[in-house]
Amino acid sequence: MLKYFIMTFGCQMNKHDSEIIETQLIENNYQRVEKPEKAEIIILNTCAVREHSSQKAISIMGSFLKIKKRQNNLFPICILAGCVAQAEKSELLKSLPELDIIIGPQDIYNFSQILNEFLQTKNLLIHCSEDFYYPYEKYYLKRKYQSKFQAFISIMNGCNNFCSYCIVPYTRGREHSRKSEDILNEINYLLEKGYKEITLLGQNVNSYGKDLENEISFSDLLNRIDKFNFDFWLRFITSHPKDISIDLINSYSSFKRVVNHLHLPLQSGSDKILKLMNRKYTRENYKEIIYKLREIKPDINITTDLIVGFPDENEDDFRKTIELVNEIKFDFAFVFKYSDRKGTASVSYKNKVPQNIIEERHNILLNEILKLSYESNKKMLGKIVKVLAEKVSPKDKNYLSGRTSENKVVIFKGAENLVGKFCRVKIREAKSYTLWGDLVE
Ligand code: 5AD
Ligand code: SF4
Repeated sequence: MLKYFIMTFGCQMNKHDSEIIETQLIENNYQRVEKPEKAEIIILNTCAVREHSSQKAISIMGSFLKIKKRQNNLFPICILAGCVAQAEKSELLKSLPELDIIIGPQDIYNFSQILNEFLQTKNLLIHCSEDFYYPYEKYYLKRKYQSKFQAFISIMNGCNNFCSYCIVPYTRGREHSRKSEDILNEINYLLEKGYKEITLLGQNVNSYGKDLENEISFSDLLNRIDKFNFDFWLRFITSHPKDISIDLINSYSSFKRVVNHLHLPLQSGSDKILKLMNRKYTRENYKEIIYKLREIKPDINITTDLIVGFPDENEDDFRKTIELVNEIKFDFAFVFKYSDRKGTASVSYKNKVPQNIIEERHNILLNEILKLSYESNKKMLGKIVKVLAEKVSPKDKNYLSGRTSENKVVIFKGAENLVGKFCRVKIREAKSYTLWGDLVE
């Protein structure tokens, strides 16, 4: 029996893809190990969204290749998968010449055939297809889900938006939606097994179905899932402001399972920068969405992504971001430093922001976000909230870590048998990143 080690970087979609890879390995009787030194097959599933993530992937794969050199034979077979594979292809061999397999995100369902081909020929294989396909309907019947209560369901793949800074349309190709019937069947199958949280995945979920004939819209899909008669939470990532429909916003008045949280990347508060980013909305458009949503659901938590230091971002543009962030009062935001990605449009943009200014703006904005997040967390004080217990706290085994419908992390004292269950927790303490509470019987 061959043993494999897998390591995953990046977004939830990458975690999902690693699960699909593992499904095929387990199906073929490979056994998972937690140390690369013990494995005959090493897989690194990589993220290319920022230069830093790509470099980290290459450096870690370099250390895996040293194991191969030390053992001086075929094993471990070293496989670089995911977005760095697709972005770099054979270029990777310049820095990682001993790689055995390079496999892009569009080929993950073929992982097992590719591995078998390598075992027979022992020759380098590079599989980086441009087009994505789902292998067949009902694939979920054999999928090995990592968790017994939380599942990531891919509803569409790829992106047609070409935001000028983003490598995703180049690594994950064009938008491909999966048939709603198959998605609904998979979710029903999981809910019957007792799953408590379903997260729908796609680079641009609001465009769901537009590439298929006679397919329902994203808002219809959510409404159908929302009507399943089980106690569960429904999440989805990631949304694009330009594609959020009025139907979706209005549906928040009746949703029962869709969580009290929307992640809606803003990226910048300056219309000039949004235009350069090719985002196709203005700060007014964005505000309108948020205000409409809050009219319908006043306490909904809104989180976002922001990029600082995009080319030509001056002090005034940056100030507009700070101003808008405070006006909207986001509950939390991920703040990224702009990073040039080979092949994207913004690489050739003029007026690049110097690195020291990017760092400075990053610190300033992060501080603003932490203040807002603290304010938002403080609003939870004294409330009794529903929490999905996710795991035993790594710091103290008497404590559990879970999340609320708003996606806020809560730490509370509780026994391991509560993991995977909804608990009622009274919030006693609020910090910027986490809440602390006590179980309510
Ligand atoms: N530089 C910095 N941040 C980026 N993101 C995407 N591409 C880049 C880039 N080149 C950020 C965006 C996106 C999030 C997933 O990553 O904010 O929403
Ligand atoms: Fe990238 Fe823009 Fe597509 Fe999101 S919508 S994946 S930021 S190109």
